[in-house]
Amino acid sequence: MARQSPGSNNESITELLQAIEQLQAGHYDVSLTTPESEPHAPLYSAITTLANTLHTRQLQRERLNEITASINAGLLLEDILEMVYEHFKDVIPYNRIGFSLIDSNGKTVRAYWTKSDRPLHLSVGFTDKLASSSLKTVLETGKPRIIGDLEEYLRKKPTSISTGLVVKEGMRSSLTCPLINNGEPVGFLFFSSVEPHMYSHVHVDIFMEIAEQLSVILEKGRLVSQLAAQKEEIERTNAELVRVNELKSTFLGIATHDLRGPIGNIRMIADLLSDAEIRLTAEERTSLMRDIGVQSTHMLSLLNDLLDVTRIESGKLELRFETFSLHSFLTQLANRHAMMATPKGTKIVLEDFPDMKMSADPVRVRQVIDNLVSNAIKYSPPGSTVRIGAEKVPNGYRIKVSDEGPGITDEDRKNLFKDFAKLSAKPTGGEKSVGLGLAISRRIVEAHGGTIGVDSNADKSSTFWFVIPAVNKR
Ligand SMILES: Nc1ncnc2c1ncn2[C@@H]1O[C@H](COP(=O)(O)OP(=O)(O)OP(=O)(O)O)[C@@H](O)[C@H]1O
Ligand SMILES: [Mg+2]
Repeated sequence: MARQSPGSNNESITELLQAIEQLQAGHYDVSLTTPESEPHAPLYSAITTLANTLHTRQLQRERLNEITASINAGLLLEDILEMVYEHFKDVIPYNRIGFSLIDSNGKTVRAYWTKSDRPLHLSVGFTDKLASSSLKTVLETGKPRIIGDLEEYLRKKPTSISTGLVVKEGMRSSLTCPLINNGEPVGFLFFSSVEPHMYSHVHVDIFMEIAEQLSVILEKGRLVSQLAAQKEEIERTNAELVRVNELKSTFLGIATHDLRGPIGNIRMIADLLSDAEIRLTAEERTSLMRDIGVQSTHMLSLLNDLLDVTRIESGKLELRFETFSLHSFLTQLANRHAMMATPKGTKIVLEDFPDMKMSADPVRVRQVIDNLVSNAIKYSPPGSTVRIGAEKVPNGYRIKVSDEGPGITDEDRKNLFKDFAKLSAKPTGGEKSVGLGLAISRRIVEAHGGTIGVDSNADKSSTFWFVIPAVNKR
């Protein structure tokens, strides 16, 4: 509404009244041109200023509504805070925003999220005691607090670590806003600027207008994020349970299948031995008894292997570290295997190496070497030679077992250390093969912090090796 030239005093009063009515109706785009030599000139300018202020407020409120609506659309707290950082600049200026939560004990404040256009010094995880901090006053009054000159504040309160850190980031003034949800203080939003004295009551008013809504949105985000984290944790545990369950089912399948054979044999022998009508010579009897021995030894070793894998998988493998002489340890082992390999005509050679003191679980390391040596005998042709050696390497002790067997194909190499890996090489002397030995060996070596592997010339030979670190975590 513009006025060209006022005709009379009455006319201008009418025009001013119309402008006031417009404002009352919520139409703030009132434009009045103060006429020259008008007695009511101060009234014209007062109404124009009021109209402008109301107009700016209205635009600001609309913007705030837009901002809160878009922030409210976020689900996860991180997304919501990201949007706060993106959009709030229109209504509250800042270079940095920090969001802190009061811990459930109500005694500490923890930085949950920070974003700045400068390198951060006070970052996520920073914790402060609420009692000693000046934030307590902000909570008690429930009102935002302005610090116009952070450097001066720090000079007066040099013990404030958080102020020290944001000043280091280049911040010079700040607006700290409490977040209250259902009457309970939950945390703070910190706006900071590189300009001193950036904040005024205008910004406090703006914040107070949306404080309640913002607190609810942030609390919602916090709960959703908490739920999302719990869901992730549950899914992880679930996947682990599914894996262990699958492993268990496979084991059960293998166990029933592999135990059925020997149990059936033992029953047959028992029937034979107890049948009064069947006359057996003493020799036949001894041979049948020996058979029971062989079958039950096989069952026992299968059960022990299964137990080992489940124990290791459920984290129950406890290593008992000892320091021992590697030389006498390997000599004893080589002698035992030499005896056992005699029927197959396999020679066991312990190569020369300087004695070393090794720190490991001797029972478990013996289990690894037993499997490597028995594999070397089992998969090599009768009459071949198996060599056992050891050396000091920069990161520990390397023990190796070489054979003159079929070697490992590239295809087999991928599955060699997995559970139930029965691969292309087959026992050459009718020995049993379950396919767990190397998988257990890998777990034992890894539990020591070491590595296991194989070097092989396909068709000719393999050298299986493992390294046990010199310094072990106990
Ligand atoms: N020295 C070797 N030379 C060639 N192949 C080998 C050698 N050692 C192992 N393998 C192959 O790797 C597979 C897995 O070996 P692993 O020791 O895990 O099981 P296994 O000897 O079959 O049974 P067990 O559980 O009784 O040890 C074997 O079935 C065999 O095919
Ligand atoms: Mg084996």
